Amino acid sequence: NGNYTVTLIPGDGIGPEISESVKRIYEAAKVPIDWESVSVTPILKKGRVSIPEEALNSVKKNTIALKGPLATPIGKGHVSLNLTLRRIFSLFANVRPCKSIVGFKTPYDDVNTVLIRENTEGEYSGIEHTVVDGVVQSIKLITRDASEQCARYAFKYAQAIGRNRVTAIHKANIMKLSDGLFLEVAYEVSKEFPDIKFDDVLLDRACLHIVQDPALYSDTVMVMPNLYGDILSDMCAGLIGGLGLTPSGNIGMKASIFEAVHGTAPDIAGKDLANPTALLLSSIMMLRHMRLNTYAEDIEAAVLKTIADGKHLTRDLGGTASNTEFTNQIISKLTLI
Ligand code: IPM
Ligand code: MN
Repeated sequence: NGNYTVTLIPGDGIGPEISESVKRIYEAAKVPIDWESVSVTPILKKGRVSIPEEALNSVKKNTIALKGPLATPIGKGHVSLNLTLRRIFSLFANVRPCKSIVGFKTPYDDVNTVLIRENTEGEYSGIEHTVVDGVVQSIKLITRDASEQCARYAFKYAQAIGRNRVTAIHKANIMKLSDGLFLEVAYEVSKEFPDIKFDDVLLDRACLHIVQDPALYSDTVMVMPNLYGDILSDMCAGLIGGLGLTPSGNIGMKASIFEAVHGTAPDIAGKDLANPTALLLSSIMMLRHMRLNTYAEDIEAAVLKTIADGKHLTRDLGGTASNTEFTNQIISKLTLI
């Protein structure tokens, strides 16, 4: 039927309800996508926790996936499946934009940051051991290859969204080798892009600047090692109202997975109270990645209008609407139908 097939990983907790909301809106907007829903419930394979083959094959085949939240154990227990997916598919760049949403009031109204996080290594390499009782080591792994792929993507992304500045965020004053390499590689890559300004800022200073005046970073694409990007992206999300309102996309050469970064919210799961905005905005990033821009614009405008008019907001946004009511409002504001 000429449609694209996209893998849908509904995920745990509120995942299935917010996925349903995306599906309903896409159907109403006549987006030419067929969803292939797969479960990522962990399985035991050779004594290790893994992801079902069917889910992996689906992502491999379709190369694009939309993903809801997966429960992550803290401390001991199996490795987060979120991370496993990023690693299996070498999703080297994690794109996380944060833009103030008109109608949802926070102390800031001019946030428009774009952050790209290296997504496969750094402190997330999972190389940890006990040296002797009471002494442990967690290895921060930085490679030229992953840094280069991530930096190059940051410059290309800047071009694609019309920004002419890229800023590397680092602590090379302390992590002389690891962040030093990341920074050096970013400088090298910057030479391939003479039309884009390149600068670098220490992570702590960047945090200070962003909370004081986020507009200082609204003309650049920030690029940084994994853990810094994890933390800084939550900080930026906090400025615009939290993880319920921010999209993210994990980009690789062979596949890309767009995901809501918030948790599974088990307390409200199954009650039709969840806010699907983060997953929807992630899906809109996905549509742009697939060059389905007309649909992206129509759905994005409908989501933003629904939030701006403020009459049918979910509880996390200060309203009383159910997910279904919020979703219905969005559908009623689509213009292409
Ligand atoms: C994120 C999340 C993950 C991370 C968790 C769920 C493993 O916080 O996507 O930012 O730390 O990367
Ligand atoms: Mn995080």
